[in-house]
Amino acid sequence: MILKEYGNRRRKLMDMMQEGSIVLLPSSCEQIRNRDVHYPYRPSSDFFYLSGFVEPEALLVLIPGRPQGEYILFCRGQDPQREIWDGPRASVHAAREYYGADESYPIEKADAILPGLIENRERLFYNMGEDESFDRRVLKWLNEVRARGRTGVSAPAELISLSYLLYEMRLYKSKHEIRKMRRAARISAAAHIRAMRACRPGLMEYHLEAEIMHEFLRNGARAPAYPLIIGCGGNGCVLHYTANTGPLVDGQLVLMDVGAEYDYYASDITRTFPVNGRFTGEQRAIYETVLAAQEAAIKEARPGKHWNDMHEAAVRVLTEGLVEHGILRGDAAELVEQKAYLPFYMHRTGHWLGMDVHDVGEYRLEGAWRTLEPGMAMTVEPGLYFREGQKGLDPRWWNIGVRIEDDILVTRGAPENLSAAAPKSVAEIEGLMAERAP
Ligand code: GLY
Ligand code: MN
Ligand code: MN
Repeated sequence: MILKEYGNRRRKLMDMMQEGSIVLLPSSCEQIRNRDVHYPYRPSSDFFYLSGFVEPEALLVLIPGRPQGEYILFCRGQDPQREIWDGPRASVHAAREYYGADESYPIEKADAILPGLIENRERLFYNMGEDESFDRRVLKWLNEVRARGRTGVSAPAELISLSYLLYEMRLYKSKHEIRKMRRAARISAAAHIRAMRACRPGLMEYHLEAEIMHEFLRNGARAPAYPLIIGCGGNGCVLHYTANTGPLVDGQLVLMDVGAEYDYYASDITRTFPVNGRFTGEQRAIYETVLAAQEAAIKEARPGKHWNDMHEAAVRVLTEGLVEHGILRGDAAELVEQKAYLPFYMHRTGHWLGMDVHDVGEYRLEGAWRTLEPGMAMTVEPGLYFREGQKGLDPRWWNIGVRIEDDILVTRGAPENLSAAAPKSVAEIEGLMAERAP
């Protein structure tokens, strides 16, 4: 059933192409961490999306309409000696029998076979510029075909980026993908709850990191979708703070932007809560403003709304809050026009979410913000950040950094909040933290 989904995707992609096309899509390379140690391998999202194949050194070739077979998968051949150390490989045979390739070859044969597959095709779909060493190989294959011009063969006249077609497909999540995204978000929400329960003054930020990773790992989410951000006080005002080495200080907030990757799908959740379990007046005031901005933005995640409607709604509510708290002075609508919120809210309200945390897909089409449609998934993540010593800012707001981020699916009806299980209201957070063991 799952493998059928990959086949359907390849069919859909090929059906969008004219005759005479060829697609080349390599998976990502293994990356060295230090000396002979590699980072844990993850296939490129595009490659996995079309193949379901997770081994390194693989190349997917699609040739729509080719009578001998449209899908050719190159992968590592069997190597009994290596397999003693690294475990079994999928094998060229499995590429056909299990992964649905019409033909499959050991990757070592790619240089010999590819020129023959490329010749006489009119257009090549390939993402030039993503992998320099593979780019060089593609150019070599193209030049080999060109060099045979006198024998009557021709090389593709057009080189087209594959992402135009593929990213549009990836933007609309299937039922199968949505199931994985729900699971990624549920695991992450449970991790947030676990960290809130464990939090207390005197611990370090990385103690919360340990709780988060514990919950991810015990649920089979073996890696976070991006480096964990766990920042207390002023660290919560650093947007991509990842050191996570500071102390959890009584009376301060802690901002946790952490999401698991589950089966190649990302979640991306931020919660902000008081280290000691009770918001101060100032913290609560800012928190309620950010929460109201987030709720207003989520309401805009409906079919027919424009991508930027969510951001505009968030900015409006945040600016009104800044005026209400005396941080900005003037007419809120005018302050929005002047972007007076920028010193305190300097990022956008969200991004597409899917296999990649900042997922693929255009935000504008022909110059205009794109219209939302069912199946699109995104984060909604307004925040306010008040750095210590910020010009013109009353010190009572210093070191308050609040972001609230959920994963939202556009449906035909109301937006589905995939991360709703992570507590968000002041009452929920304080209630949960009040139950902690002393
Ligand atoms: N965690 C990165 C982001 O929120 O976009
Ligand atoms: Mn995030
Ligand atoms: Mn995000």
